[in-house]
Amino acid sequence: MLKSKILLLVILTALELNANSLGSLLFHGNCITCHNETKDISAPSMLSVRENYLRAFPKRKDFIEYMSQWVIEPNAETSIMLDAIKKYKLMPLLGYEVTTIEDIAAYIYDTDFLQIHEGHKDKK
Ligand code: HEC
Repeated sequence: MLKSKILLLVILTALELNANSLGSLLFHGNCITCHNETKDISAPSMLSVRENYLRAFPKRKDFIEYMSQWVIEPNAETSIMLDAIKKYKLMPLLGYEVTTIEDIAAYIYDTDFLQIHEGHKDKK
């Protein structure tokens, strides 16, 4: 009985870690080309995107939902960063699955881009 509880706990922990590293992998594979973590280059940094979204959607669920919807269909009408559109032009349509974007949005919500984190290349 205890053994199976421990096993379940181990599995759950592993799944949680995997979900996080999957989001990290997807983010670093698909978003970082345009969004640097901390510097505004060809697009606003993920740090500043995250800050804007956290301000508008403090709850994890709302944050993930809104960001995923927007990334699936980038448009000025539902943008919360109109200045960024003016400065960089509207983000192009990427054509990923909703579930993929949701994993990425969850990773963004959970990640303090100023801190060293999973997927960060130049760990010091
Ligand atoms: C080809 C370049 C490019 C790629 C790749 C890209 N973005 Fe963007 N993104 C932009 C630009 C430019 C903006 C700023 C203009 C805007 O908001 O449309 C932006 C803005 C955003 C915004 C702000 C939306 C708003 O409210 O205006 C979010 C959220 C976002 N990107 C998420 C992502 C995620 C998540 C990925 C990876 C799946 C990604 N982006 C990949 C170029 C890109």
